Amino acid sequence: MKDVEEAKREAASVALDLVRPGMRLGLGSGSTAAHFVALLGVRVAQGLDVLCVPSSESTRAQAAALAIPLATLDDVVELDLTIDGADEFDPKLRLIKGGGGALLREKIVAAASRRMVVIADSSKAVQTLGRFPLPVEVERFGFETTRRHIMREAEAAGCKGTIDLRRKADIFVTDGGNYILDCAFGTIPEPEELAARLNAIPGVVEHGLFIGLAQAVIVAGPKGIEVHGSLAYV
Ligand code: A5P
Repeated sequence: MKDVEEAKREAASVALDLVRPGMRLGLGSGSTAAHFVALLGVRVAQGLDVLCVPSSESTRAQAAALAIPLATLDDVVELDLTIDGADEFDPKLRLIKGGGGALLREKIVAAASRRMVVIADSSKAVQTLGRFPLPVEVERFGFETTRRHIMREAEAAGCKGTIDLRRKADIFVTDGGNYILDCAFGTIPEPEELAARLNAIPGVVEHGLFIGLAQAVIVAGPKGIEVHGSLAYV
């Protein structure tokens, strides 16, 4: 049976074939995206010319160590392609992201890209989003009030469950200096409605529902590679 890391690397290697010389790339975050960055580093060492915007400090550090040319979104406002992982994806290519806490920059980078292609192992496929607790990045000021507000709006969108402040050894702080609330809803029956309600809450900086952003998901599983959506250039 295929090892999960092997599957992630396989999906990353298919995504690498989408990269063309001269492209401006968004680099995702997390363990699957890290495989892509590692493979890209090999191509760059062989002479591939690309300019990349990382979506987290950890990806920035990995890419810099591989001598991948880096820029910020202030230098390069539009990207050709972003390759990123996901915590879950559904048949409509809606995603939950932010398990690693980088959802805010990941969403900004994805939204600045003409194409976002997700790479994943088959464990990330779900019929209904919500099995993975939805990360919501919140301003530290008044986060408990924001937590209660999220709970009310989530219930109105048909979601019930616990909402916990993310902690590692201490409270987890994002690259942007904010907190993460992990919302364990089990299922999210109406992702668009929940997203709209979350967007309207003061104190919510961003949430991990990525809707209408992924053009394709490259999935590596026991039966090999499957592509959901289209890898065609747009
Ligand atoms: C990081 O904040 C996340 O959005 C990751 O992209 C997501 O959690 C997938 O991570 P893995 O590839 O490590 O599962």
